[in-house]
Amino acid sequence: MQIVCGIVTISDRASAGDYKDLGGPALKEAAQQNGWQILCEAVIPDESTEIQDTVRSFSKQGCGLILTTGGTGIGPRDITPEAIRGIMRVELPGFGEIMRAESMKITPNAILSRNLAAVVDDSLVIALPGKPSGAVECLGFITGAVPHAVAVAQHQPTSC
Ligand code: MTE
Repeated sequence: MQIVCGIVTISDRASAGDYKDLGGPALKEAAQQNGWQILCEAVIPDESTEIQDTVRSFSKQGCGLILTTGGTGIGPRDITPEAIRGIMRVELPGFGEIMRAESMKITPNAILSRNLAAVVDDSLVIALPGKPSGAVECLGFITGAVPHAVAVAQHQPTSC
């Protein structure tokens, strides 16, 4: 099954052009290495409505997998988990648990991360940290579970 992927960078400063988006391109490269097709990309501010509208729009356009980077910490503008929880059908807590547990082996700061995965409409949405290396690391920890989770989210036949 070809996984069709959307990538959303969530950052006030990157979306304002104050600095270059590095997280989106890093995730794009990792996704392509996994053989996933990139259909949609966006750089948006830490605004709940924009996050929700972008995720839903990517889902409607056919992205079975939507990766976000940024806004998962504890800063006053970090609202990605709340925005996604506001539109999800179900959360998949195992993804967040594994990402945090494995990341703790790299940095104790990972305990601050509120990474998560959820099903929104018919798409698997995975919210990753804003730090490009952290986002790619976290994606690597759960990549093995992605094809089955996307298939189930998209109501496609699976082997189990
Ligand atoms: N996870 C991994 N694998 N590697 C990292 O370097 N950085 C952490 C954490 N998770 C990190 C990580 C840090 S420093 C923070 S503050 C949180 O993710 C939240 O990141 P965000 O606010 O950029 O989304």
